[in-house]
Amino acid sequence: MDTRFVSFDQTRLAVHTTGKGQLAVLLHGYPLDHRMWLDTMHGPLAERRTLVAIDLRGHGASPWCGDAMHTMDLLADDVAAVVHTISDEPVDVVGLSMGGYVAQAVWARHPQLVRSLCLVDTKAKGDDDAGKAGRDAAMRTVLEKGRPAIAAAMAGKLLAPRAETDPHGMLLRARLHSMVEGQPVETIVADLRGMRERPDRTPMLASITVPTLVVVGSEDALTPPDEAKRVAGAIPGARCVVVPGCGHLTPMENPAAFAREVSAFWPMD
Ligand code: MLT
Repeated sequence: MDTRFVSFDQTRLAVHTTGKGQLAVLLHGYPLDHRMWLDTMHGPLAERRTLVAIDLRGHGASPWCGDAMHTMDLLADDVAAVVHTISDEPVDVVGLSMGGYVAQAVWARHPQLVRSLCLVDTKAKGDDDAGKAGRDAAMRTVLEKGRPAIAAAMAGKLLAPRAETDPHGMLLRARLHSMVEGQPVETIVADLRGMRERPDRTPMLASITVPTLVVVGSEDALTPPDEAKRVAGAIPGARCVVVPGCGHLTPMENPAAFAREVSAFWPMD
């Protein structure tokens, strides 16, 4: 994997690349980084595309830039800046959960940069009152009890229930803990504020004119299959694939099935 940095304004983003061919940009979820894509980046999709996993600002190897709030628009503009630097052509955009919110914001703000969209374990709606209260509670948890507490609270929700007991699940939990605990507290709070205030993208879905695939784990407790099917149903020509046995992190929980579905979706070069 090649890692380099793209700098613009006061921002420096780590960009990790594997594979060959046309470009596909991978956008991670909250509060994770490019490491959630490691199986994808070293799997069969690297034979189909140059896979470019961006550490969104403040995540992974990208430093926190001092922002109190990471709006989805701000993160989408960062992605657009990276794409402008590395490509003259539109790219395939793949976003998981918060990365899916960012992917939708990229379409809303920079549609000319997008060749196709893959929305994974994500939704279009904004936070309702209960969702906003959940963000406030998560902010209190991370500020008062620290990152291990937020990692522990999240691991149970992110993975399918079998991860509690099977050896692969236990490995995933360990990977998740080290990723979550590696993000700055400022980043976690800024993400929570940004997601809390993100707009409802449902009305925008009908405007998506590029090929779109929606992928969801059958046991995704945070963005359940019914929600994913609603998103796909609102996008002209989009398809929804439900991957059995996965929770909210399908590409980590079943990388082979994820790669199969995305490979079948992406047009041949
Ligand atoms: C994520 O996985 O990115 C988050 O669960 C998204 C969210 O909390 O809305």
